Amino acid sequence: MVDNSSTSPNWDINLPLSQSEEASVAAVRQQKPNAAPLLAASKLSKSFGGVRAVDNAEIQVPQGSITGLIGPNGAGKTTLFNLLSSFIQPDSGQVLFDGEPIQNLQPHQIAQQGMVRTFQVARVLSRMSVMENMLLAAQKQTGENFWNVWLQPRKLRQEERKLQRQAMEVLDSVGLASKAEDYAGALSGGQRKLLEIARVLMTQPKLILLDEPAAGVNPTLINQICEHVVRWNREGMTFLIIEHNMDVIMSLCDRVWVLAEGRNLADGTPTEIQQNNAVLEAYLGQ
Ligand SMILES: Nc1ncnc2c1ncn2[C@@H]1O[C@H](COP(=O)(O)OP(=O)(O)OP(=O)(O)O)[C@@H](O)[C@H]1O
Ligand SMILES: [Mg+2]
Repeated sequence: MVDNSSTSPNWDINLPLSQSEEASVAAVRQQKPNAAPLLAASKLSKSFGGVRAVDNAEIQVPQGSITGLIGPNGAGKTTLFNLLSSFIQPDSGQVLFDGEPIQNLQPHQIAQQGMVRTFQVARVLSRMSVMENMLLAAQKQTGENFWNVWLQPRKLRQEERKLQRQAMEVLDSVGLASKAEDYAGALSGGQRKLLEIARVLMTQPKLILLDEPAAGVNPTLINQICEHVVRWNREGMTFLIIEHNMDVIMSLCDRVWVLAEGRNLADGTPTEIQQNNAVLEAYLGQ
């Protein structure tokens, strides 16, 4: 478990959306009728000692969607992410990505197939520069092969320059270009979250799992992160987002899944979830 001091639920559940937010949500939703699941998990269970952290849970993430995963503290959301991305093995159950079972693959193999995740507490390499963090995240570099250094130095330099350009473009798109040479450790909490997202973008994924991208982040940066997510989604990326900040969930997500005590409590549109009594009780009862 992590320090939850920054993750207390912001559960202003009756908060109305502004007209512009409603319009942008409607625009995003119209683009993806009945999309097939890119990620589908069924009957997933995981216990730690006596604690059933995830209990017979299911989730589906349609291709092209922004799907939300919510639930009170300790509901099993991060454990479900860990199971979906193979950071831990399930006691039972199945995970399909793009129609193929992936629960026996290693996290890096899943990343190569196009599913990447960020962590509840951003994991950046503090003693490396922002640019070095980005370059390390890039996959399939020619330089990864030892012999290429000797046999194809020109190709290697070209590849490096290409990656640097790509990294700079991604950093620019998240407003971190001016920090490229700074140590990642010198960034604010919100900027680290942006860097973590920027790093996973270097792998050009199909699906990004974000674990509380808004936690501990100032409101201006939260808005920026949301705008980026909507833009990347329009460009074709699918998202599964854990978040306690309900404004973020309500304004971004097509569909929301609710976990409580490791089990599925509800799933539906943000409006349906907002009006679901069992969901309200689960939050009020914590
Ligand atoms: N590695 C672990 N060892 C033992 N128990 C664990 C471990 N990871 C999670 N748990 C327990 O599993 C349950 C679910 O935890 P998890 O972190 O998945 O919840 P969460 O929904 O992400 O909570 P939060 O909103 O606070 O981040 C909790 O009771 C937690 O203490
Ligand atoms: Mg968590």
